[in-house]
Amino acid sequence: MYPLIRNRRLRSNAAIRRLVSETIITPNDFLVPLFVVEGKGIKKEIPSMPGQYHLSLENLQKEVKELWKIGLCAVLLFAKVPDNLKDNKGTEALNPDGLMQRAVKAVKDACPEMLVMTDVALDPFSIYGHDGIVENGQVLNDESAEILAEMSVSHAQAGADFVAPSDMMDGRILTIREALEDEGYTNTGIMSYSAKYASAFYGPFRDALDSAPVDSKEIPKDKKTYQMDYANRFEAIRETQMDIDEGADIVMVKPGLCYLDIVREIKNEVDVPVAVYQVSGEYAMLKAAAEKGWLDHDAVMLEQLIAIKRAGANIIASYFAKDAVKLLG
Ligand code: PBG
Repeated sequence: MYPLIRNRRLRSNAAIRRLVSETIITPNDFLVPLFVVEGKGIKKEIPSMPGQYHLSLENLQKEVKELWKIGLCAVLLFAKVPDNLKDNKGTEALNPDGLMQRAVKAVKDACPEMLVMTDVALDPFSIYGHDGIVENGQVLNDESAEILAEMSVSHAQAGADFVAPSDMMDGRILTIREALEDEGYTNTGIMSYSAKYASAFYGPFRDALDSAPVDSKEIPKDKKTYQMDYANRFEAIRETQMDIDEGADIVMVKPGLCYLDIVREIKNEVDVPVAVYQVSGEYAMLKAAAEKGWLDHDAVMLEQLIAIKRAGANIIASYFAKDAVKLLG
């Protein structure tokens, strides 16, 4: 068809490029992960995640007000509990006056319209750093799912709009949905981490929450018996479809960049919103390279976020949310 058709005509200046551009990101696309800690006046930078902080409740309130002001409308909360409150069953996770429960209320008090999602998993509450109860070297499935359901009800009671189970136990979406229905929380949504891979990119997050699996002979040293093998693709579709059938309102692929093939495939298969989690390791990599002057921070950030959106993400959980929104003006 050349020379009649010349593809470069559609790229020849900024105006035509703007006109034919297929993908945009806006503040509406983002879910902002936040790390909450006990104490007063704490805003402490997480060393492996520059620009991300441990926030005590009043600083959490300040932060959500600022986020709301720049157009960000949804947060995903993670609680870092002190070691003395951890056990094998994550008992503290069910405390109606626990850190997560108070954090939900604090956000709603400071910024009532902010959408609040809560992380539902045992690892930050577990002495072993696993997403479920550990017994005889195994991470128990059904017993863990029951606790996750109680945890979800507790978060709903505190005022969470959505619960976000990040554990990968089988059947937990159904168990959680039934528990929420039984307790009258019919409007509380579930964003399921449905295709969550056993990834080394979670390292900085585990530093931040002090939640890495403990190194011991009796305890599984990684999460490979519940999180997915990154070599697999069909499994991601099965996991996602099952979560939808069990009652998930939103599904998720995690991590982001290395898994955009999975995102596209799932987007083509399902008709619920698809979230993508650009995880801590992805964030840390770019921050580190930019700090060294090896990559252009803003340009690479934008390229990554657009790529995630182009792959099919409806929602992007990202530590870059604030940077991106500021950059977009
Ligand atoms: C724990 C959880 C993890 C992340 C979100 N929830 C870590 C893990 O599974 O070990 C990772 C998020 C990130 O790396 O940014 N259930």
